[in-house]
Amino acid sequence: LAAKPLAGRRLLITAGPTFEAIDPVRGITNLSSGKMGFAIARAAREAGAEVTLVAGPVHLDTPRGVRRIDVRSARQMHDAVLPQAAAHDVFVATAAVADWRPASLSAQKIKKDGKKIAPIFELSENPDILAAVAALPGGPYCVGFAAESEKLEQHAREKLRRKKLPLIVGNLGPATFGRDDNALLLVDAQTTQALPADGSAVDKLTLARELVAEIARRVAQ
Ligand code: C5P
Repeated sequence: LAAKPLAGRRLLITAGPTFEAIDPVRGITNLSSGKMGFAIARAAREAGAEVTLVAGPVHLDTPRGVRRIDVRSARQMHDAVLPQAAAHDVFVATAAVADWRPASLSAQKIKKDGKKIAPIFELSENPDILAAVAALPGGPYCVGFAAESEKLEQHAREKLRRKKLPLIVGNLGPATFGRDDNALLLVDAQTTQALPADGSAVDKLTLARELVAEIARRVAQ
């Protein structure tokens, strides 16, 4: 096995949550910490890849040698990823992208109206970054992530087909957001494989190194 199995390869990774503004002080977001994506970026760099990391709002240090682009909203993440996706060999979408955003952004802080009537927010659907990259002709090898509360393998395989991906990675650990350890389920069109093989939780860097080794094997085929 080569010490640097991704030497000469370019990896693009999304990580963290997105933040969808409602007004200047409020927004919709989620509990993704970005730890898994940052660990994959570090592991890919260790494996010799040239790594670009597009990060939503997180509190994490940039892994050494990794090029990082910070964004806030799903649309900003989409606009940062799409123009450079085709110049990469692999795209790993770990970001927990908000599915919806407020349909309009209030320029001023929304105030209570004094009549005890709560505002109702209309939502618009965000672009699916991973599906867009997977649809690029001659685009990178795409790896998706799936966080599900039930029927992980079934939902993961549905997502694989819907987004036309060669590989999707399910989070086996419950409540994985923000934790330091996890276990993964690798699902492709034919096979399902747990990582680690016994499904026990290990720290995210160990897991990231194993996942990167697996991606390198698949890309080399
Ligand atoms: O459709 P769902 O959000 O369950 O799919 C999860 C996968 O798709 C993750 O890899 C996530 O990073 C990616 N995704 C994306 N853009 C979206 C929604 C999800 O890239 N708008």
